[in-house]
Amino acid sequence: MTKVSAKKVHSAFVCEQCGADYPRWGGQCGQCGEWNTLKEIRLATKTSNRAEHHSSGYAGSLSEVQRLSDVDLSHAPRIATGINEFDRVLGGGMVVGSVVLIGGAPGAGKSTLLLQAIATMSEHAIKVLYVSGEESLSQIAERAQRLKLPTQHIYMLAETSVQRICEVVDSVKPAVLVIDSIQVMRTEESDSAPGSVSQVRESASYLTQYAKKNHVSIFMVGHITKDQALAGPMTLSHIVDAQVILGTTDDARYRLLRADKNRFGSVGELGFFAMDSMGLKEVKNPSALFLNRSQIASSGSVITVLWEGTRPLLVEIQALVTDCQYGNPRRLAVGFDQNRLAMLLAVLARHGGIITAQDEIYANVVGGIKVTETGSDLAILMGITSSLKNKIIPQNWLFFGEVGLSGEIRPVANGFARINDAAKHGFTHAVIPKANAPKQKVTGLHIKAVSTLAEALDIFAEF
Ligand code: TYD
Ligand code: MG
Repeated sequence: MTKVSAKKVHSAFVCEQCGADYPRWGGQCGQCGEWNTLKEIRLATKTSNRAEHHSSGYAGSLSEVQRLSDVDLSHAPRIATGINEFDRVLGGGMVVGSVVLIGGAPGAGKSTLLLQAIATMSEHAIKVLYVSGEESLSQIAERAQRLKLPTQHIYMLAETSVQRICEVVDSVKPAVLVIDSIQVMRTEESDSAPGSVSQVRESASYLTQYAKKNHVSIFMVGHITKDQALAGPMTLSHIVDAQVILGTTDDARYRLLRADKNRFGSVGELGFFAMDSMGLKEVKNPSALFLNRSQIASSGSVITVLWEGTRPLLVEIQALVTDCQYGNPRRLAVGFDQNRLAMLLAVLARHGGIITAQDEIYANVVGGIKVTETGSDLAILMGITSSLKNKIIPQNWLFFGEVGLSGEIRPVANGFARINDAAKHGFTHAVIPKANAPKQKVTGLHIKAVSTLAEALDIFAEF
């Protein structure tokens, strides 16, 4: 290899809490501030050669210089999992030779999702190998039988040594490999304790290098527990190509799949599933999943439409404003950024003339969705004002728009698609940014386009 890599580092220290690494040991992690979490990991001296003996002359092409325009695009073919919601989150299926980490709490359904995915793949003549280091093969077979999955073309292996796994892959030659889970894997090149961060990281990087050299695609399962949300698998983010998290909605009715990182697709995409006795079922039309309009209308509740990846999503925002009994009034945002709430309240005071400095304010996005866009700004302020004035916003009204610091209502992306979705779900009134106002009429929907927060607040006169 090149001269640059001649200076060899033999060990590094990795924080078990957040995964930051350091060349030297220290009592406290500089990144997350935890004490006594740095653990030594041994780095193999010839890192670049590690999986070379498995290669088939591929390494030679690594250092070739090419024009970007000449790079062969056919090198990134994808394998569909056959589960639309899964493929969507992956950016249109799994890229051949890529490594995808599936994280989630124990019991989230990671093994179930992968078993269903590989069963569909194997039906399309894709050779898959499922390596289980956790459940016994008979447990998995039983589950597959109960879910009525086709199993004839799925190869199984109970093994935890990555070297041994790679040997089996060499002879079986599957196109897709499932590692369930990466936490129980170990590499013979490391002498640290099984299950430790260094074992997990080294096993993951060994498998990843193997996958790249041999064009095998790997799904790795990683358990994430609540109290150590960042430990373990999250330290693998920079090793893998994509990291998707399988989570549960607040009411535990649905499973949400989202990409945290994706070298081959966007990260905004969400996949929706419901878990029943027949495994995970796709939710085909999730836009109204989080609306529960049978409830009695109450003040503080308002509906907005978010844009998640490539789809609209209707969500309810609830706000509660109460007198502060003592001390500093609390401001709590659940499901969106706390700082955004503070900023919105400042705009509400300055440009809406509604002062909340003495009030406690709680605002919550119903259903456990994390809002990362600004389109819900207007709805949040409408909800807060509704609670403060104790005026109910009718349930067939919908609000979206970004609120600027000078009290202007700014347009959001995909305005027309959001409006259409609202109309489709029976909303009769939409208050939206002027710049998002559609040129043509939308059947059934009365649109009020506003350019300032003050104009939007005037609507309370109608309720
Ligand atoms: P599992 O895929 O084993 O979770 P993970 O691999 O993420 O730990 O899913 C286990 C949970 O899913 C368990 O609580 C039972 C439930 N489940 C169902 O409700 N229906 C089913 O058909 C299956 C297979 C599991
Ligand atoms: Mg499992």
